[in-house]
Amino acid sequence: MIYQTPDALDIHLDALPALPRPSRVVLTTPTHFDVEYVINPHMSDNVGTVNTEVAWQQWKALRATYTALDRAPIVVNGQAGLPDMVFCANQTLPFYTPNTDTKGVVLSRMHSPERADEVPYYARFFEERGYAVKSLPADLDADFEGMGDALWHPSHRLLWGGYGYRTSPEAYEALSDLLDVPVVLLRLTDPDYYHLDTCLCPLDANHALVAPEAFDETGRALIDALFDTPIEVPDHEARHQFACNAHSPDGTHVLIQEGCEETNNRLRTHDFVPVELDTSEFMKAGGSVFCMKQMIW
Ligand code: ARG
Repeated sequence: MIYQTPDALDIHLDALPALPRPSRVVLTTPTHFDVEYVINPHMSDNVGTVNTEVAWQQWKALRATYTALDRAPIVVNGQAGLPDMVFCANQTLPFYTPNTDTKGVVLSRMHSPERADEVPYYARFFEERGYAVKSLPADLDADFEGMGDALWHPSHRLLWGGYGYRTSPEAYEALSDLLDVPVVLLRLTDPDYYHLDTCLCPLDANHALVAPEAFDETGRALIDALFDTPIEVPDHEARHQFACNAHSPDGTHVLIQEGCEETNNRLRTHDFVPVELDTSEFMKAGGSVFCMKQMIW
């Protein structure tokens, strides 16, 4: 159930099991957030430049925005020595299986050794809350960075899987088996777009923000085949302002880095409501709204 070309697509969204939207948000405090190493191109000039006080203000504004949208976050404490732990979309892939009413997460296998020790904190967090905590097969030699690269199609049980920088394609074969879900693979071709969540943002069943420069022709065709209305994001807004690292918790509001003017215009044309947030301190590490939260069932 792995799809890599549009010709091979023999699935129709409507025929796949429905998937309710996850209703709960997890955030991790930026207590120990900083840029201490360089593992993506966005970090390269930013080592030691994070203003902790400003980062806290920006994080609190994000928390307040989710709360105002009736999604008061559950908060995890950031740990010393793990400056990227605040990006809590990356250590797990949450899942929900409607026919068995199972809620769980698949643990990531971080590509970067610098981030490997973040995973056990989230494993414990989910275990304590009664989630099924699953791992990829022990004998599988593959990287997997959770919801940095694996994104649920809103509304149906279909997974989009980015690979090329942080996640290995083999991880998706294992995930497809583990979760009994079809996966559409998208090869990432530009190091600025190192995670799928920097260049594809599924908003609802029909709409997604897309940075076309991040994909090859096959990838763009796969996105066009399964989203009725892909919304193209100008390269400079996606690459430098993380316009695609946005998040729609409800299919209407889109939390997005402030100043993505053209993207916001296009969102409004399609009846979405942009909610602008300043995540500039976190962009220094290569992330914005989408990767600063985890949505769980
Ligand atoms: N510095 C982090 C890293 O390179 C940023 C992660 C941002 N997360 C994301 N899903 N884009 O891993």
